[in-house]
Amino acid sequence: MYVAIMGYGVVGSGVASLLKKNHEHIVKKSLQDAMELKYILDRRTFPGDPYEHLVISDFAKIVEDDEVKIVVETMGGLHPAYEYVLASLKAGKSVVTSNKELVAAKGCELLKVAEENDVNFLFEASVGGGIPIIRPISQCLAANDIDEIAGILNGTTNFILTKMISDGMTFDEALLLAQRNGYAERDPSADVDGFDACRKICILAALCFGKHVYPDSVYTEGIRKITLADVEYARVWGGVIKLIARAKLLEDNRVAVMVSPAFVQNHSQLASVDDVFNAILVRGDAIGDVVFYGKGAGAMPTASAVVADVIDCARHMTGKKFFGWQDSEDGYVASYLDTKSSFYIRMTAENAAGALVQINKAFGEVSMLTRADAPDGEFAFVTDVISEKELAEKLPAISLANAESVIRITDY
Ligand code: HSE
Repeated sequence: MYVAIMGYGVVGSGVASLLKKNHEHIVKKSLQDAMELKYILDRRTFPGDPYEHLVISDFAKIVEDDEVKIVVETMGGLHPAYEYVLASLKAGKSVVTSNKELVAAKGCELLKVAEENDVNFLFEASVGGGIPIIRPISQCLAANDIDEIAGILNGTTNFILTKMISDGMTFDEALLLAQRNGYAERDPSADVDGFDACRKICILAALCFGKHVYPDSVYTEGIRKITLADVEYARVWGGVIKLIARAKLLEDNRVAVMVSPAFVQNHSQLASVDDVFNAILVRGDAIGDVVFYGKGAGAMPTASAVVADVIDCARHMTGKKFFGWQDSEDGYVASYLDTKSSFYIRMTAENAAGALVQINKAFGEVSMLTRADAPDGEFAFVTDVISEKELAEKLPAISLANAESVIRITDY
């Protein structure tokens, strides 16, 4: 059996080297006589690379080669990955991808095309890197009614927040370190603005609840505005700040999906997930809470998930994986304004006493938080559970203070 890789970057080259390193047992587990890499599609050339001779720049060679039965897509981005994956599936080839942008945007459609062409479309590596999570949700936990899923799905932001919490670095200092370590891109927006985590929670929500969740329907907030003052108030409160992606099935069968920084209590299993690690908590009616933890990024952890999918494709050339992933109707994702939580709010005011009177009038009783060395006029408090809509209505009533920071409080 022949395999092609599209995209010879960090993950693609990890896949090639893992296929070689563990070749013997991969072939054995694939239930095939052989498993060989035939092409690597990339616009670049790789002089001196052991697979230099396999590198091509013309996709047609892959799609027109009947010997290639499995295509691995590790290009990233939506275009031309979408067109190449679509064409590969239509040509009767199974496709394995690590591309969360592709799966979040087009997962439902590509699974349908795969089914129509009697091939597989697998994407274990698209969420959580090497952490098994797609299969556990769709197979191992299939007997459960899952009503909630939440997690730390982005390693780069978790690394930045860990450095802020443990080493007192500012956001800018920690981002620079993340870039130096090769975690954050030069343009770090996809990570620090929450888009990467958003795509991943959309995929998980579709698997848990059966309908496609489009990333642009999800309220998404990143970590750029988090300061060391907020980190300290979280510590005083008894927790840490994490970028949490969450999805919950509502009673009316719509879903609430959100990505935002959140206060997480120290005793939560998510609080101790540090550095570039990811963790995903799944709440099922039979299992209760189950947490998946591990390396959410990196060449070999992600290649581990990709190659496992390749093996699965090879073993099931005639049996198709079923994910129960349907398209969704407008309004399936509830407005974030209906979501309820307590909020941590940090404010500054010249007339703090007057501002506090306004706060009590708007929010009723609140729990005040204090920190050492707070500048004059700064105060912070935690509200009762209210909706985002109520928050948006109440905040403007505090005319004597500026809201510097508003962070949701989770109950995981
Ligand atoms: N940039 C991503 C992260 C890589 O930091 O988690 C894996 O999707």
